[in-house]
Amino acid sequence: MRFRDKVILVLGGNSGIGLASAHAFAEEGGVVRITGRDQATINEAAASIEGAKGYRADMSDLSAMDDLIDTIRAEDGRIDVLFVNAGVGGFAPIRDLTPEAWDTIHNVNLRGAIFAIQKALPLMGKGGSIVVTGSIGGHGVLPGNIAYGAAKAGLAMAVKIIAAELVGEGIRVNIVSPGPIDTPIINRNPGMTDDAVDALRQQMIAAVPMHRMGQAEEVAKAVLFLASDDASFITAANLFVDGGALELG
Ligand SMILES: NC(=O)c1ccc[n+]([C@@H]2O[C@H](COP(=O)([O-])OP(=O)(O)OC[C@H]3O[C@@H](n4cnc5c(N)ncnc54)[C@H](OP(=O)(O)O)[C@@H]3O)[C@@H](O)[C@H]2O)c1
Repeated sequence: MRFRDKVILVLGGNSGIGLASAHAFAEEGGVVRITGRDQATINEAAASIEGAKGYRADMSDLSAMDDLIDTIRAEDGRIDVLFVNAGVGGFAPIRDLTPEAWDTIHNVNLRGAIFAIQKALPLMGKGGSIVVTGSIGGHGVLPGNIAYGAAKAGLAMAVKIIAAELVGEGIRVNIVSPGPIDTPIINRNPGMTDDAVDALRQQMIAAVPMHRMGQAEEVAKAVLFLASDDASFITAANLFVDGGALELG
């Protein structure tokens, strides 16, 4: 029960890694608040988690994030753990990359993530913990992954800088960087056929020394560790949850 009565805000908590983490936080006593864009799955997820509430808040829309934080301030008064997990993917090699595709990814994965942290900070204080979802795509080279890889690489550096800025306030900031994880994101790549998704899945599995995709629950365990007092002497860390893909692949 590492999170008993702690207010946990999971941005992107209605699917995949965020949903698995939201369940795990609640199982350890956390008061869980989740966000997403899709109202139906937000409602479904919130109803499945003991004591949880769900809010529709597009992380790329900064005024929607202001409204979200106002709501949390009014209803809960504080945030003890912020999990900035929302993210979108999309592949395009340099010749096909469009400014629109770049902006769609960066407005959520980098700009949205950083301003979400900025907006949540007034509700956080000493002992607070921020965990961000990065990706091995921000560290390893995958052709076609320019926009996503650049966003996640930028996010990893931003986390270190923010950690340095907040260490004196007693707020820890860390990033979890998953390898291929079996979540709906792989089916959400714009313009990819089912066959192309299957080929991508096989390519990803081949790059993992453990010869499988990870499960969302395996990432959630790392997220909860970094969010908890078990990691009280850890800040600015980048924890890879990737079956050895980055270092051994
Ligand atoms: N799965 C992998 O292989 C993998 C590997 C490395 C890193 N990651 C990262 O892990 C994180 C979670 O992804 P996942 O694999 O769990 O995929 P997922 O099941 O597709 O979940 C993505 C989550 O982000 C939310 N989201 C997306 N855009 C949003 C926006 N503009 N505003 C608010 N919420 C938004 C989604 O909500 P809606 O459903 O309502 O849109 C959903 O809750 C992402 O940051 C992703 O980049 C995943």
